[in-house]
Amino acid sequence: MKKHPQILQACNIHKRFKKPLDLYLLKGIDLTVKRGESAAIVGKSGQGKSTLLHILGTLESSTTGDLLIGGEKVSFINKSRIRNKQLAFIFQSFHLFEDFSVLDNILMPAKIARQDTHPGSDAHQKAMEDLVAVGLEKRAHFHAKLLSGGEKQRVAIARALCNDPDLIFADEPTGNLDDETSAQIQELLLNCVKKNNKALVVVTHDTAFANKCHTCYNLENGILL
Ligand SMILES: Nc1ncnc2c1ncn2[C@@H]1O[C@H](COP(=O)(O)OP(=O)(O)OP(=O)(O)O)[C@@H](O)[C@H]1O
Ligand SMILES: [Mg+2]
Repeated sequence: MKKHPQILQACNIHKRFKKPLDLYLLKGIDLTVKRGESAAIVGKSGQGKSTLLHILGTLESSTTGDLLIGGEKVSFINKSRIRNKQLAFIFQSFHLFEDFSVLDNILMPAKIARQDTHPGSDAHQKAMEDLVAVGLEKRAHFHAKLLSGGEKQRVAIARALCNDPDLIFADEPTGNLDDETSAQIQELLLNCVKKNNKALVVVTHDTAFANKCHTCYNLENGILL
């Protein structure tokens, strides 16, 4: 089946919190991202960037508005399938299981999807390939807690790639890293998008990173500019 060129289409997304505080945060967000493209979202703290990313990633629901992933309208019924098959997330604070090995962390989505992850399985082989891609094959059996920050973020990227997602969401993925490591992580993400025809939506405070993306949006007063 031919893949829909627009991996992400968000139409007129609104988000209004009622509790514990009435806050009308997102006031009509339209965003389209094509395969092979990257979109950066910048903006001041508290403008709703993380909330928007969570809504686009089906982790949180909008108050009103439509979300289409790969041309398919996301609903209550299909959202877990879409999320598991097509989406991946990378966070500022890595969100690894610290007491598990690097390899087990990368295989976690496959384990949750009840795939065979034993040595020799497709999932295991793909995880090893992804570890090589992020330059950490020698750390496969290390506990995640023994890694440096940059290494942890590379593991999180390998984990994001392991299920071969179409669309990667990253929320300040370089926020906790020094300039040099941050540049490596940016390269890794942007290369992966280009080489594998994936798509990336990244929230970042780093203007250099934002400028390397195809499109850069500023979230201000509930609207993307
Ligand atoms: N349930 C809720 N009710 C009311 N307000 C909420 C609720 N959840 C989050 N907020 C508020 O929504 C606003 C946006 O939060 P969000 O985390 O999306 O901002 P952000 O742009 O990612 O900020 P930062 O750059 O600091 O990460 C914040 O002011 C937060 O306090
Ligand atoms: Mg945030």
